[in-house]
Amino acid sequence: MSKAGGRRAAALILGTAVTVGSCALLMLAAVHWGGDPRNLLAKEFAGAYLAAAPAVRSVRSFEIQAAPAELALLGSESLHVWAYNGQVPGPTLRVRLGDRVQVAFTNRLAQDTTIHWHGVRVPNAMDGVPDVTQPPVRPGETFVYDFVPKDAGTFWFHPHIRSSEQIERGLYGVLVVEDAEPPPYSRDVLWVLDDWLIGADAQIYPEFNTRHDLMHDGRWGNVITVNGRRDEVLVVKAGERIRLRLLDAANGRVFAPDFSELDAKAIAVDGLYAARPFDANGFELAPGNRLDLDVTFRSEDRGREFRIVDRFTRSPIPLATIRVADEVVPTPRFPSPARAHIPAWRGAADLVPDAGYLMDARAGGPFGIEWTLNGEAFPRDHSAGHSAELMLGRWTKLRFVNQSYRIHPMHLHGQFFRVLTRNGRPVDEPYFHDTVLVHSQETIEVGLVPLDPGMWMLHCHILEHAEAGMMTMVGVH
Ligand code: C2O
Ligand code: CU
Repeated sequence: MSKAGGRRAAALILGTAVTVGSCALLMLAAVHWGGDPRNLLAKEFAGAYLAAAPAVRSVRSFEIQAAPAELALLGSESLHVWAYNGQVPGPTLRVRLGDRVQVAFTNRLAQDTTIHWHGVRVPNAMDGVPDVTQPPVRPGETFVYDFVPKDAGTFWFHPHIRSSEQIERGLYGVLVVEDAEPPPYSRDVLWVLDDWLIGADAQIYPEFNTRHDLMHDGRWGNVITVNGRRDEVLVVKAGERIRLRLLDAANGRVFAPDFSELDAKAIAVDGLYAARPFDANGFELAPGNRLDLDVTFRSEDRGREFRIVDRFTRSPIPLATIRVADEVVPTPRFPSPARAHIPAWRGAADLVPDAGYLMDARAGGPFGIEWTLNGEAFPRDHSAGHSAELMLGRWTKLRFVNQSYRIHPMHLHGQFFRVLTRNGRPVDEPYFHDTVLVHSQETIEVGLVPLDPGMWMLHCHILEHAEAGMMTMVGVH
């Protein structure tokens, strides 16, 4: 196929309008305002989350090894995976706000890797972006990650090299940072959602970044697991009030779990508490996203079984079962922890974006298809410059314009942001994000106040899209 023919074919299948030049319109420079409304917006943000890490109360040390392993998973006696400490999902690191976290990480893979602490506002040098914040960790080498989490919440960690393969093969784990004084839930439960593409030989399908993956929403698997199991069962007692932490660790799949049968409220998104508890149903958990729920099992639920299904796709997919035992225990009564200060930022919709990203695809690059931001595909060796320079402490607006018919969960390292508008309409979402799902042909604007200096990556968390170029760097100084 000729190059032009290939481009046309890609454009047809992806349904993209391959436009050149219109991106210039979106690279809108910040304008100077008399009596800058941004100062007011920054003031309104004050106290939402803190610039500095809390005083260190204790040091928590962990050791993590990435290595090939054979596990009894998905019904196979020996599924060949790559695993942190020999398990998939990897170990859950549970610390408390005020702990200093030290992770001695050793690479026992046959290729370079790093660990990125997704959603954690780490010092830039601990962010795990190869050749930008640290050299890759070579086979046999050890690198010590050392940071003091600034926020409590549900976070996760994963490689940031060849991540479409390394994460898919099993390299990911959860970091739970508990509040300094955790609310007295009966229990704290983690559900790591993932999907796997399993081949006819009952092993992980060994071709990555395929043309199919790149033309669609990345690699979607044929086996769905919760905590590495196809038939996860959570047994609870009637009366229990649990905190259920969800993570989407899939390469490309979005989950919309249906909790409508339960007394469940969402309390935190991407780690941080929301301004108020909100209905969890319909929430779309895109790759990288976390959602924390506050679930109470009523005494009349005794002996009941709840089947939690995913409703993102046309036909519902079973995710897990919650079985309520006959035993009844008293319900812990305490106010919802979802009462964070989330700025409303009214009027922000009218401000001009500081940077805009036009998202699209074209033929070319190492995989035959490239995913681009403003017409540029980020090189796999990370040798590109940065696309925006944000000022520490200044209220900032970013705009994402999805020209393609595919979806793109956009993740910004080191910062949280609030969605301001969707397709030009102001929205009132009572929470911050570190990853926001941009739907087909959608335009989203977000507001943020950068508090953490450094070079931070901004990329699509559909890992195949990222590998094929949909990444850029954002400087904060
Ligand atoms: Cu979870 Cu840069 O990624
Ligand atoms: Cu994408």
